[in-house]
Amino acid sequence: MAQNSPRPRILVTGGAGFIGSHTAVALHESGYTPVLVDDLRNSRESVRTGVEKITGIEVELWTVDCGNAEAMAPVFHAPFAGAIHFAADKSVGDSTRDPERYFDNNIGGTARLLAQLRAQGVSNVVFSSSCTVYGEAEPSPVDETAPTLPAASPYGYTKQACERLLHDSHAAAEGNLGVAVLRYFNPIGAHPSAHIGELPLGTPTNLVPYLTQSVAGLRPPLTVFGDDYPTPDGTCIRDYLHVCDLAEAHVAALQWLEAHPGAIDTFNLGTGQGSSVLDVIHAFEEATGLRVPHKMGARRPGDITAIHADPSKAKRMLGWSTRRDLKTSLADAWRWQQQIQSKEG
Ligand code: UD1
Repeated sequence: MAQNSPRPRILVTGGAGFIGSHTAVALHESGYTPVLVDDLRNSRESVRTGVEKITGIEVELWTVDCGNAEAMAPVFHAPFAGAIHFAADKSVGDSTRDPERYFDNNIGGTARLLAQLRAQGVSNVVFSSSCTVYGEAEPSPVDETAPTLPAASPYGYTKQACERLLHDSHAAAEGNLGVAVLRYFNPIGAHPSAHIGELPLGTPTNLVPYLTQSVAGLRPPLTVFGDDYPTPDGTCIRDYLHVCDLAEAHVAALQWLEAHPGAIDTFNLGTGQGSSVLDVIHAFEEATGLRVPHKMGARRPGDITAIHADPSKAKRMLGWSTRRDLKTSLADAWRWQQQIQSKEG
């Protein structure tokens, strides 16, 4: 990009969330201006300060629902070169208790946002999807041609439905809309500065935030959900990737869309390596020198045994692959946990 040309503005919905905030930093580092939209239903205003500390710029944060066209009107005061859509509810368990909210916010919200983007002539959209669309895929590594199986939860269904919706919007836009669908495996970690990270409200349901809070003494020992799975150590296997690597993939996807106007494609984002729950515990202990208090427990309903990505398409087409390993991700997650506590305590 030329030195003095204005930085293209990129709309980031869910911009105060875990992945959105790290992507805002990556966008800035690649010469874009991230414009954050977040109604703060599951995030905090203070995230903006964290992003500002890292980037050294003032960040635009609009605290509105991106699906509310009227509230969004002022956000479009200047044109956007692209949009990255993260805003969604993301708890598998919650979605089974409150499916109507998930259908309305995730699917309805995406439909309402896409209508605005098309009306405003925004030409590139990057969408935050999940490996959950594959269900219990056999065998791993899973590439993008693996079938998407009937979703095990309303949350999973909303990701599948949104992918379908993006394909239909893309077709309706007749070459004027480019779409990159990104299927994440398990994002963990935090920015190494510890200015931003994951901020789950209440008791975390995901492994790494629960683990760090447990080591910090804020929660009872970690329960390993099942040690009788048909895996080498009996615990479930996932593909854990650093959130900063994931953030960089969004920039790579945007740049790919810029180079291929009107394209549409889907990419798996993971390390390509599976780690068991016990591997994560041991890697954390090695990275930090601390012990993880834990006990074996029953399987968690709905968990799949093992899944990891074949990320070779993202490498080939986007020039992206992960650069940070599991220990680095866990060390960064721990630094972030300590930083939140020093603020709160
Ligand atoms: C799930 C979803 C994923 C979604 C993510 C976001 C599926 C298959 N995956 O990931 O799409 O984006 O939630 O919330 O639906 N574990 C423990 N003890 C704990 C917590 C977790 O042993 O206290 C284990 C789980 O059994 C699992 C692994 O840790 O094997 C990872 O769990 P978690 O972090 O919740 O992510 P997923 O369930 O893989």
